[in-house]
Amino acid sequence: MDIVEALLRHYEVLRDLFETTAREEKRFIDLIRHLDVHNRNEELFFLNRTISNKEITYEALESKEEHHIINIMVNDLIYFPMDDRRWKVRFGILHEFTEHHLKEEEEDLFQQSRQFLNKTELEKLGNAFERNKKTQLSALEWKSL
Ligand SMILES: [Fe+2]
Ligand SMILES: [Fe+2]
Repeated sequence: MDIVEALLRHYEVLRDLFETTAREEKRFIDLIRHLDVHNRNEELFFLNRTISNKEITYEALESKEEHHIINIMVNDLIYFPMDDRRWKVRFGILHEFTEHHLKEEEEDLFQQSRQFLNKTELEKLGNAFERNKKTQLSALEWKSL
C-alpha cells in the first residue's frame, strides 16, 4: 500500500476515535494508542524521508514539532482527572490542534511528497508503515490487558 494512502486510511480511524472519545471519555486510551503509533511511524517511514527534499523540509520539520506538542498535551491529559470539567475542555483543544495538524499534512505534505517519491518507494514505505503499525497496536493491546 502507498504510504500516503496508508496514512490517510489511519486518519479515518483517528478522526472516528476523536469523535467517540468526545462522547465517551473512556475511549481516550484507544485514541492515544492509535495516535502515538501513527505519529511515531509517520516520522519513521514518511517525515524522515521527506525532510531531505528541500522544498518540503520546513513542512516536514513542522509536522515533527507538532507531534512533540501533541505528546505534551496527551501526557498532560493522562494525568488530569477525567471527572474534572476542565478535562473535556483540554480534550477539545487537543482535538482542534490535532485536526489542524492532520489537515496541514493532507493538504501540503502528502500532495507534494507524491511528486518526488516514485511509486515503488511509496509502496515500500507504506508496507513498512502498515507492518509496524499492526505489530505495535497489538503489542499495546496486550500490555493494557
Ligand atoms: Fe503527523
Ligand atoms: Fe499524520
